[in-house]
Formats: sequence, structure tokens, C-alpha cells
Amino acid sequence: MRIGIGITGASGTIYAQRLLDHIDCQQHDVHLVLSRYAKLVIAEELEGGLRIPEGVQEHPVKSMHASFASGSNPVDALVIVPCSMGTLGRIAHGVSEDVMLRTADVMLKENKKMILVVRETPYNLVHIRNMELLILAGATIMPASPHFYHRPSTLQALVDTVVARILDHLGMEHNVSSRWKADPEQ
Ligand SMILES: Cc1cc2nc3c(=O)[nH]c(=O)nc-3n(C[C@H](O)[C@H](O)[C@H](O)COP(=O)(O)O)c2cc1C
Repeated sequence: MRIGIGITGASGTIYAQRLLDHIDCQQHDVHLVLSRYAKLVIAEELEGGLRIPEGVQEHPVKSMHASFASGSNPVDALVIVPCSMGTLGRIAHGVSEDVMLRTADVMLKENKKMILVVRETPYNLVHIRNMELLILAGATIMPASPHFYHRPSTLQALVDTVVARILDHLGMEHNVSSRWKADPEQ
């Protein structure tokens, strides 16, 4: 797969780190774009900074040379993780002034998979309306909402409950987090 990963300045940059850790970046063609604010939040949240696996191609957010930001050469899927409300709103309203936003615009117009792993609490009506607009336009809104029913004992295990769902939606096989198996009915 040819995959775009965008990281914005929402909290939860560890989700992006774990996604990068779990994707086989030798097997897949992975392109990475960080917003200016993502770099600030990474400095707060990730000890030692973001570890970019070998094989991943990073592109400056203001690059004019990212081939996948064109409808003639799109990535197969774009994941923006974590996705700030600012970026969500810009995508919802067609603002495409940088590589990440333009790629998102391309994904919508070319009917390609786009997963926005949003992180904010609480949501205001503008956030909700923007999410509604993007769902109607074809995006997948996947809130960074970890689950607890497997009793994750580490921060990574908790984070991976979200990363597993991202990989599911990308159609990638994985064993990142166990799946819910209900007991047989009594
Ligand atoms: C430490 C920190 C945490 C933040 N967390 C969030 C967040 O969880 N969600 C959000 O929408 N914005 C959050 N913000 C605000 C965004 O970084 C800000 O709106 C920024 O303009 C987003 O720009 P970007 O979407 O281009 O990255 C946070 C900012 C800082 C400094």
C-alpha cells in the first residue's frame, strides 16, 4: 500500500508513533507530513522525539514536490493521527494551503480512504458539524477513544487499542491488540 500519515498539533502524538511502529515500512510506501504545531506537541509528549522508521519518506508541510498531493497520483489511504480540530475544520471547508490539507482534499475528491483520528474534549457544535460534513463527504472519523475491556496494563497497550482499529480500517492484518470474544450465551 501507498499510505500517507499526517500528524497535527492535537494531543496524542503517541498514537502516530505506535502506528509508525506497527506498519511494515519496508513493505509499504509510507509518506509522512507533520504540521508546524505537531512538532511542538511532539516535543511535549514524546520523550526523545518522534522515531521515524527506516523507509518512511518525510515531506515538509509546505513542500511543492509531494507527488501524492495530486489527484493523478494519490496515496491509497491517508491517516491523520492525531487530528486537531483546526485541521478537521480546514479540511471540512476545503482549505488546502499545505501538503497535508491538499492531500486530504485529494482523498475526498478521488473517493479514497481517509481516516481522521480526532482528539478533543468536549466537542463543540462546530466540531460536530465539521465531522458530519466530512463523514458525508466520505471520510472516516475515528476518535482517539481507547478501550479498556482487555485491561491494558501499559500506556502502549492502551494506545494500541486505537492503533489496532486504524490498522483494521486500512485493511492491514495485525495482532496489535486482542479482539473482543464474548462468552457463549448461557
Ligand atoms: C500541548 C498541546 C496540546 C493540544 N491538544 C489539542 C487537542 O487535543 N486537540 C486539538 O484540536 N488541538 C489541540 N491543541 C491545539 C492545536 O495545536 C492548535 O489548534 C493548532 O493550531 C493546530 O494546528 P494544526 O492542526 O495545523 O496542527 C494543542 C496544543 C498544544 C500546545
